[in-house]
Amino acid sequence: MEQKLNELVENCISKLKDCQNLNSLNSLKIELLGKNGELTQILRGLKDLPPQERPQAGKIINKTREQIEKLINEKEIVLIELELKNKLEQERIDITLPAAKVSRGGLHPQTIVRNRIIEIFTSMGYSIEDGPEIETEYYNFEALNIPDDHPAKDMQDTFFITDNFKHNIILRSQTSNTQIRVMEKTKPPIKMLNPGRVYRCDDIDATHSPMFHQIEGLVVDKGISMCDLNGTLSAFIKELFGEKTRARLRPSFFPFTEPSVEADASCPFCDSEGCKICKGVGWIEILGAGMVNPKVLENCDIDPDVYTGFAFGLGIDRITNILYGITDLRIPFENDIRFLKQFR
Ligand code: DAH
Repeated sequence: MEQKLNELVENCISKLKDCQNLNSLNSLKIELLGKNGELTQILRGLKDLPPQERPQAGKIINKTREQIEKLINEKEIVLIELELKNKLEQERIDITLPAAKVSRGGLHPQTIVRNRIIEIFTSMGYSIEDGPEIETEYYNFEALNIPDDHPAKDMQDTFFITDNFKHNIILRSQTSNTQIRVMEKTKPPIKMLNPGRVYRCDDIDATHSPMFHQIEGLVVDKGISMCDLNGTLSAFIKELFGEKTRARLRPSFFPFTEPSVEADASCPFCDSEGCKICKGVGWIEILGAGMVNPKVLENCDIDPDVYTGFAFGLGIDRITNILYGITDLRIPFENDIRFLKQFR
């Protein structure tokens, strides 16, 4: 029996050598020490021994069991450590590797330009106001001194929502409606800016869109003159296009201003020499403006003998296209990621 036990220990030692993981160690444990294991078989053989030999044999068997258990436990510690090491190796994170690139979005070029224009005017003390895009004809035309037979009111130019009410409901064709809305509810001094969407029945092409963006400006106070308008627009044009840029005012006509002007910037791309962007003229048309027509002030219950004002309106889309050299008005509306990525 002793020989059998020694063989068992030998066998255990050699099998332990082949044991590569905890699963096979467990199987070996069952094989040697389990209910039907080899040691248990030997233990069962005890009853066949003469009674006086049994205690001694029992002792040896127990010692062998302890020996095997010890060997297995030692191996178990080694294997647990090994498995942990393997696991750590596999799950290792190399913190020196560069992180996955986070792709940051950017602002739409029109938003960049709109924000820039807002920044310029708010730094001069202008407040930002809002006006409705769905508007009555009164605010979009009548109150602005635009007569009923004005071509802009034509069905072809304005989107009519209803035309069977006393006041027709339309999509505003200009942000100038906000001038009236602000003057109705605010006593001068007024110094406001309104960026917003406007709508006109135009077919889409490289220079037209049925929806585009304007910024309206309005200043009303005692003693406001054409000089204030000139100074404001010159400062604005220099801020937007660069210190070297000059502004010039040309006579024009708008029903809601008297006198009316159009403001040009000397072409910042060719220093007024004439290039593709200014179409060889050396000047780029930037906005419409003028002194608020006394009739418009009266329509808002502001006394034109006490107060005067100036107003201006510009197209954000056009200015964006000039600043970024975009040649087709449709491109900024197409949401093409290859286009938008250039402005990150
Ligand atoms: N509302 C005009 C347009 O859409 C732009 C404009 C011109 C606005 C002169 C003004 C202004 O306030 O004074 O063409």
